[in-house]
Amino acid sequence: MTAAKTTPVERLSAAAAAAEHAHLVAEINAHNRRYYVEARPVISDAAFDALFQRLLAIEARFPDLVTKDSPSQTVAGAVAAGFRKIAHRQAMLSLDNAFAEEEVRDFLARIRRFLGLDEETPVVLVAEPKIDGLAANLLYRKGRFVQGATRGDGQVGEDVTANMRTIADLPQVLKGDDVPDEIEIRGEIYMRRDEFFRLNEAQTAAGRAPFANPRNAAAGSLRQLDAKITAGRPLHFFAYAWGEASAVPAKTHSGVVARFRAWGLVTNPLSRTCSDLEAALAVHRTLESMRADLDYDIDGVVYKVDRLDWQERLGFVSRSPRWAIAHKFKAEEAETEVLDIDIQVGRTGTLTPVARLKPVTVGGVVVSNATLHNEEEIERKDVRIGDTVVIRRAGDVIPQVLRVVADKRRCGARAYAFPKLCPVCASHAVREINPKTGKQEAARRCTGGLICSAQVVERLRHFVSRDAFDIEGLGEKQIQAFFEAGAVKTPVDIFRLAERDRHAETPLREWEGWGEVSAAKLFAAIEARRRVPLERFLYALGIRHVGQATARLLAMNYGSLDNLLGSLNAAAAREGEAWAELDAIEGIGEVVAGALVDFIAEPHNREVVAALREEVTVEDFVAPETTSALSGKTVVFTGTLERMTRSEAKTRAEALGAKVAGSVSKKTDYVVAGSDAGSKLAKARDAGVAILSEDEWLDLTRSESG
Ligand code: IVH
Repeated sequence: MTAAKTTPVERLSAAAAAAEHAHLVAEINAHNRRYYVEARPVISDAAFDALFQRLLAIEARFPDLVTKDSPSQTVAGAVAAGFRKIAHRQAMLSLDNAFAEEEVRDFLARIRRFLGLDEETPVVLVAEPKIDGLAANLLYRKGRFVQGATRGDGQVGEDVTANMRTIADLPQVLKGDDVPDEIEIRGEIYMRRDEFFRLNEAQTAAGRAPFANPRNAAAGSLRQLDAKITAGRPLHFFAYAWGEASAVPAKTHSGVVARFRAWGLVTNPLSRTCSDLEAALAVHRTLESMRADLDYDIDGVVYKVDRLDWQERLGFVSRSPRWAIAHKFKAEEAETEVLDIDIQVGRTGTLTPVARLKPVTVGGVVVSNATLHNEEEIERKDVRIGDTVVIRRAGDVIPQVLRVVADKRRCGARAYAFPKLCPVCASHAVREINPKTGKQEAARRCTGGLICSAQVVERLRHFVSRDAFDIEGLGEKQIQAFFEAGAVKTPVDIFRLAERDRHAETPLREWEGWGEVSAAKLFAAIEARRRVPLERFLYALGIRHVGQATARLLAMNYGSLDNLLGSLNAAAAREGEAWAELDAIEGIGEVVAGALVDFIAEPHNREVVAALREEVTVEDFVAPETTSALSGKTVVFTGTLERMTRSEAKTRAEALGAKVAGSVSKKTDYVVAGSDAGSKLAKARDAGVAILSEDEWLDLTRSESG
């Protein structure tokens, strides 16, 4: 133990601090190893945390002591990048499904036929709950847990050994004198329902997205690069199968599972050995009725032929064994009344209608909300406020409204008028036309991206991201904190942060996690971005369909923000010259053009752009450094090109500073005509535009780039 711990950090001399720091680093690393690698911690979590806090306090006062290998800088138990892949020694198979009892009878009949058994010969089956989690493979060598993997695609999974070591149900060492030298134990990792709800509360409280169901929560928790996070998550394991084994300790499935239990593995207590099919089906009925009261999700019963010699003979069809089948449960449904319909606005602006229901129990969970997906769904199912509806909980927490019970519709039931304005920010909410189908999109979206508080954190994060304003030190966490503190509500506020800070009651340097240096660094990073290239500015605005490539195209074609804004205003009616010009840019179609016009038509968005321009200078587009005679020229490709693809041609042209348009106009400088060129070629002739063959064009670009 470190004796110096009693001296307050403020009073430590530099030498004493360095000595204690070195001690702490060694000590914490050793504890990490015991915890993650050996899974044999020797101190409590609280004691560990105290050591870690002390380390952080010392490093905060003596930043010089922070080295790359300090535990404060490394993520204990983490794999460097992603997970290592592990090929399973024996493939991890899936199961065939049966839904009706009839299909289960067929399953057994097939087995009898295959084995040549008559009706009289009993076929003992094991009936096991089908756990709704994720399959895992654990390798035990000489009784020690040495490697854990996810199922992956059945052949190759991910190495999650460190994470699995944190699961209490998994013994590090198997006990007993009949444990094979080497055995792959298989089973299901899952999360209990109560633990899942608690985790989701914590997730939401921390501003993170909740998990949809316990299965996703278990998978998400297991596949953490930082095993420390997995360690904090309540995961469990049931063993129910095996892969390669140097010896199999029994002649039946039930016999092997009994040995698993004796070795210290957890097996499911509800599994039953059944002397015939009727007994197995009875287990299904019992479990289905108990389902809601279990504290973990199951979605069916797995029947397995108990005799292993028969399993061996039965073998596999494609990816499932002939000796097992999953008899699924019916999805859980219930009837209730729609009290009201609310709209939720998602982080990307989608308006999702939610039915507020008279609370009803479905599959053991009290449900008072159900999603109606979108406007189209409400229309299609004709759901009205006051209707009686059937809802279904299909493993997911958010149940769905399946259908209206038409007989029970009261005459007072009123149709729902879907709002055309965002309920959060009052901007217009629109349904776009999908150009491929010519039909309206199912979802309605809020157009107030930059001012809509439902979307604002996401938008701000995008605004400062690497390819946009690229403000260092301003990540999602910081944005969220600034937003919650009321310091940053719109992008403009970012550029007013430093000024605000001068008058703030608690300046940034005094916030938790900040200091003099980091605050100053952030303000400097923001200052450095007061000049921004047009294409980055456009991309940062987060206009729908305007990614980096489109932003660049716009910058290239319009040159300046003033020019672009003028044209977009002029194109508002979606007709006329300005619209045609926009639509004609190769790579920008009706959808993108429409999104741009909608964006600028929204007064809130215009205000944000105007306010931003008071804080930052948007630099005009500068064509790439080239003396090319092609720079600034507009080129149209038409007909079939033989020696390059369209996109290749376009990329090359743009690299030389040319603009590529989709149709011939007064502004066209060259038309490059491949074979079978049609109307564009004719139009070019009429307009007297220079026409080049593909070869001539290639010569021109070669001489330019060479
Ligand atoms: S046996 C060769 N038993 O269901 C058979 N699987 O649909 C291997 N599962 O990937 C699986 N409970 O994740 C088996 N008692 C149980 C199960 C079970 C849940 C899952 C498992 C498997 C999937 C197949």
